[in-house]
Amino acid sequence: MEQGRSGRALVVGGDSLVGSALKLHCRKLGSAVDTTSRRPGVEAPGAVFLDLGDPDFAALQNNNYDVAFICAAVTSMQACQGEPARSRRINVDNTLDLMRRLADRGTHLVFLSSSQVFDGETPMPDEAAPTAPKNEYGSQKLAVEEAIERDALPAAVLRVTKVLADHPVGVFKGWFEALAKGEPVQAATNMALSPVMVGDVAEAAERLAAGRHRGIWHFGSSDEIVYFDAARLMAVMRQLPVSLVQGAELTEGQVPEIYRHRYVTLNCEKIARTLPMPIRSARDILDTLFAGFPQPAAGAR
Ligand SMILES: NC(=O)c1ccc[n+]([C@@H]2O[C@H](COP(=O)([O-])OP(=O)(O)OC[C@H]3O[C@@H](n4cnc5c(N)ncnc54)[C@H](OP(=O)(O)O)[C@@H]3O)[C@@H](O)[C@H]2O)c1
Repeated sequence: MEQGRSGRALVVGGDSLVGSALKLHCRKLGSAVDTTSRRPGVEAPGAVFLDLGDPDFAALQNNNYDVAFICAAVTSMQACQGEPARSRRINVDNTLDLMRRLADRGTHLVFLSSSQVFDGETPMPDEAAPTAPKNEYGSQKLAVEEAIERDALPAAVLRVTKVLADHPVGVFKGWFEALAKGEPVQAATNMALSPVMVGDVAEAAERLAAGRHRGIWHFGSSDEIVYFDAARLMAVMRQLPVSLVQGAELTEGQVPEIYRHRYVTLNCEKIARTLPMPIRSARDILDTLFAGFPQPAAGAR
């Protein structure tokens, strides 16, 4: 069977935002793709049960993968902070155990890391900039990155900023639905995002795998946008009442400082130059995203 340019692929964390997009992207390119899930009743062809909290790697030993994308993780920063031992077992110890087993069988790896390995006090850090995580989640990502380097694992580390789905979810969904009902929304004036679309992350990860790249790679937008400005942009683009978008400073009680970065944009020149991947502005990404949001139901506005 045609194996696509990456070869036979495994997506660890096939139910995740990034993992779902990777599965579709690799299949579209002609690769055979297996995915792991920890959800009960994983019986679809190509689906493998894997709970990184209590992993049984036996099911994976039957297959050889050319590449594997490591997307599964405890991704809530608050959950990592609240349960550091449990989340570290999943995000660091068992993730590395899995990665070493795959590497031993000749699999090239792409590990999804985060801009949270930085403290956010330096504008536009590049891949060589000093790391200094402010929270447990960032420390766990850094621990995996350091082990990859120490053990010379055949892996690319893809540090991404804020990954956006191509449909309304999270804070954007909440704003969209409230504004469509004529209700006011509050958006932060002291926190920004440097967005990147999930489809672009999937494409970048696949290209890193196909090229058997190693080392650290940054991927995000070329600049950042304050959440308040993003909410206003959404209202303007979807012809929703901009006057209902209220700006408010986030307090320490709402979002503690350890989860906030003064500068959220990464220097992405390396990936732009090498793969190459286009690096879009935050405004351009949000324009495209909001343009694709569904029309609010008639009478909702
Ligand atoms: N999204 C972002 O903005 C962003 C930014 C920077 C880095 N990243 C990194 O990119 C990767 C993918 O992120 P994402 O946003 O796509 O993730 P996500 O949608 O939050 O999904 C996380 C996945 O990990 C799985 N998982 C959690 N605990 C597990 C366990 N014990 N065993 C096996 N699987 C487990 C979850 O399984 P269930 O579906 O069963 O719960 C879920 O499918 C993560 O490593 C994340 O840290 C994401």
